Amino acid sequence: MSVDGTSGGVAVTGQQPSEPRGVRLPEFPWDSLASAGELARSHPDGVVNLSVGTPVDPVPPPLRDALAAGSDSPGYPATHGTPELRSAAVEALRRRHGVTGLDPEAVLPTIGSKEFVAWLPTLLGVRPGDVVAIPELAYPTYEVGARLAGAEIARLAPGEAPPPGTALVWLNSPSNPTGRVDGAATLAESVRAAREVGAVVASDECYLDLGWRTEPVSVLDPRVAGERPDGVLAVHSLSKTSNFAGYRAGFVTGDPRLVADLLEVRKHAGMIMPRPVQEAMTVALGDDGHVREQYERYRARRERLWGALETAGFRIDYSEAGLYLWASGGADAWSTVDWLARRGILAAPGTFYGPAGQQHVRVALTASDERVEAAVRRLTG
Ligand SMILES: Cc1ncc(COP(=O)(O)O)c(C=O)c1O
Repeated sequence: MSVDGTSGGVAVTGQQPSEPRGVRLPEFPWDSLASAGELARSHPDGVVNLSVGTPVDPVPPPLRDALAAGSDSPGYPATHGTPELRSAAVEALRRRHGVTGLDPEAVLPTIGSKEFVAWLPTLLGVRPGDVVAIPELAYPTYEVGARLAGAEIARLAPGEAPPPGTALVWLNSPSNPTGRVDGAATLAESVRAAREVGAVVASDECYLDLGWRTEPVSVLDPRVAGERPDGVLAVHSLSKTSNFAGYRAGFVTGDPRLVADLLEVRKHAGMIMPRPVQEAMTVALGDDGHVREQYERYRARRERLWGALETAGFRIDYSEAGLYLWASGGADAWSTVDWLARRGILAAPGTFYGPAGQQHVRVALTASDERVEAAVRRLTG
């Protein structure tokens, strides 16, 4: 049986045990940035790496203390997390985003959100022949997850309805890479259209705390999902707002029935967040001060980079929220990556996120103030 060779289904090769088996995945995008990286690193004043959005600021000390305090942890942790963690997640969504009525039982910790994004179609039982709908410009792991399950992907332009046969719809507002934000009415329409074809909605909300020009709305806001979040999941990450990318901490919540099913599979599969991380995450979710501080750091960097890119002749599109500037120099994405690399600045080509990104680069805000100032000098000098 050979299923779906072109769009990346499971490649089962039959009788030859020596032939490789496995899933055809796209090229790991960051590998193709190696030569631009080399060029950027050769700059006499060093590289300013604005490609991968990896946090560079310290983990707030109270969060590190909580990790250390939880380090005597000889037994297996609960896949469902501690009751304190689940309540802290519900409270954080209430305080920070006005989401009410969530049952703490319907919270499930994830080992960062990337693994969850990659495995959600499989965990939900999405099969070859099913469709996973993703945004036209999207975080690449949505496609990877569909391929792991042997499903097809459909890239949806803003406002486009998912085709019949869609089993899962990914939403991502604020968007990586564009920083576009969908308002409550637009999100509600996406949820309605997904429900109409019987698809589960997973809303990746890892940038929800980083609204600059607008306050992003969760899919669990009653104006979006209605009074009951039937068929709807919200996926959260502490990587960016709490500088927890190295801790691997996120959670999913929403439809209690779906979360219970996911818990069951994840228990069997050993997808368990380490207990010391659960402790640190509980403290992080209980404190909004450090989230605000980090927000202000990114806000200042965003303003500096936005101005400098415009001075250098770039146009910035969307970028109302989130950790990236979606910039166009008018040329194709790789030429712009090269132009920036010659100035010692590394950015990601828009094509990493879909064919519609061919005129853009994604510029991350995740560099130290000192490196951001170096980039500003090079762009404006
Ligand atoms: C849209 C989106 N979703 C999910 C992730 C994964 O984040 P993490 O695994 O660190 O929670 C990222 C990381 O950059 C992202 O941009």
